[in-house]
Amino acid sequence: DRRPVPVKLVLLGESAVGKSSLVVRFVNREYAENREPTIGAAFLTQKCTVDDRTVKYEIWDTAGQERFHSLAPMYYRNAQAAIVMYDITKSSTLDKAKGWVKELQRQANSQIVIALVGNKLDLVQENRSEQNEDADEQDGNGTSRQVTFEEASAYASEAGLLFFETSAKTAANVDEVFREIAKNIPHD
Ligand code: GTP
Ligand code: MG
Repeated sequence: DRRPVPVKLVLLGESAVGKSSLVVRFVNREYAENREPTIGAAFLTQKCTVDDRTVKYEIWDTAGQERFHSLAPMYYRNAQAAIVMYDITKSSTLDKAKGWVKELQRQANSQIVIALVGNKLDLVQENRSEQNEDADEQDGNGTSRQVTFEEASAYASEAGLLFFETSAKTAANVDEVFREIAKNIPHD
């Protein structure tokens, strides 16, 4: 049977970590600076084929602003997959992400596949010279890494999560997140 398997996926994480940017990169292959915060939630779909199986993602991109927090259960209820995002240049967003993981592990489907995603990798690429980083700090751009790969990856394996660092801006690792989730969705 070659019909796509529907997979409900929810995106959670603090406002401005780049949830909408990641999903728009995955679905529309595009990126725009200065995106408006999401109000409520947005719904998008995209197919993804791995190992001869096609899943059709039904994606709920939730709003990260605190005033929308209480809506989240409507979107993660019955979800088979979740992407919990933080911004690698802002450590408080990882604390928020850990809170979402706890909530999902308590309240969501027990089979849910969760991926922890650290976004904005482009801001801290190794090809940025020390001089550029110094200049950024002087400009107050604050673009240095605040969460190490090792720290987040250790937490993810302890909590049983998939883990990636991505850039919605450059598309680095974006498709890989959705492909790896698809591989981990149980066949029934
Ligand atoms: P809410 O809808 O409020 O929850 O925010 P969000 O998580 O959907 O964030 P959004 O995608 O709107 O992005 C917030 C800001 O971060 C925007 O100005 C984006 O352009 C920027 N941004 C998103 N992803 C990246 C990235 O990978 N790199 C860089 N440099 N900026 C990014
Ligand atoms: Mg958004």
